[in-house]
Amino acid sequence: HRSIAVFTSGGDSCGMNSAVRAVARMGIYVGCKVYLIKEGYQGMVDGGENFIEAEWKTVSGIMQKGGTVIGSARCKDFRTREGRLKAALNLIERKITNLVVIGGDGSLTGANLFRQEWTSLLDELISVGKITKETAELCSHLNIVGMVGSIDNDFCGTDMTIGADSALHRIIEAIDNIATTASSHQRCFVMEVMGRHCGYLALVAALASEADWVFIPEWPPETGWRDVLCNKLQKERSMGQRLNIIIVAEGAVDMEGNKITCDMVKDLIITELKYDTRVTILGHVQRGGSPSAFDRVLGCRMGAEAVLALMDATPDTPACVVSLDGNQTVRVPLLECVERTKRVQATMDKQDFTDAVKLRGRS
Ligand code: F6P
Repeated sequence: HRSIAVFTSGGDSCGMNSAVRAVARMGIYVGCKVYLIKEGYQGMVDGGENFIEAEWKTVSGIMQKGGTVIGSARCKDFRTREGRLKAALNLIERKITNLVVIGGDGSLTGANLFRQEWTSLLDELISVGKITKETAELCSHLNIVGMVGSIDNDFCGTDMTIGADSALHRIIEAIDNIATTASSHQRCFVMEVMGRHCGYLALVAALASEADWVFIPEWPPETGWRDVLCNKLQKERSMGQRLNIIIVAEGAVDMEGNKITCDMVKDLIITELKYDTRVTILGHVQRGGSPSAFDRVLGCRMGAEAVLALMDATPDTPACVVSLDGNQTVRVPLLECVERTKRVQATMDKQDFTDAVKLRGRS
């Protein structure tokens, strides 16, 4: 029977456990041997106890947990040919020719390169006597299916990445908490939220929390924004509002591409308006905690679909990503999504924000 291995890579996110559980259970259900690889690519390179054969009960009670119970690591070794040879040997020894990778675009790109290199890795392992030609023939193709786990929701090709919804819940809860103390003291709070180069978390959090202003990388403020912002805050106060909330995406920039920081905004407000102002950087609180119902179900659906995609794969099937399109789980070509995601960054680097926003949307 066929063997599948699943691992999580890159920054953890809520819902990854649910996806691992679904891959394990669906894999067992369709008659496969399923391995969980601990510590991402590092575990694949190191082998040994990092490979755990999953039973139905191995993945019980993990769906409720945040992060990834099988661990995730940044791996330098996998970037070297030697590391990838070790990883290939560890897979072949267990007859694993189906890989499910749950991670961000970097992790998915790595998996695709591994797949493209697979034949040459097999040849080298034969030539150094690590495997026989017969074994190589049995493992001649490596099928890859990806799922995007990231709080940032920054991947082109899926409407939602696994973990973004839970992070939003965490952010909203934090803003609600800040709002009560802000109101008591008539303060202004400038809050930084994560998202790397993507403004999704900041924008949606601002909309859902009645924030006064939001800075996101995709929409740098017009020159003269300082006056507009101060006027807006003053107007709110004159209408009886006791607090102000300003959300700054960690990747926010101005028209010239200079980073907009919470401290900059705070200094502006203190200088111009003399409001009692505080900065709160939410940080990794946003990535922790228990997954929302949405992320649990999203992980489940994507994990099950990933196994079905592997079962359907032929040697000519390109690597795919299981993604969410509206309310449907669909399979989209991995390479195309990775390229589009990179193009978004490139256009933003060139300060071409209109194109970046267009590219982020559905094709
Ligand atoms: O990609 C997820 C993310 O949490 C980003 O929002 C953030 O910029 C980054 O990872 C933080 O990375 P680290 O956990 O390595 O500090």
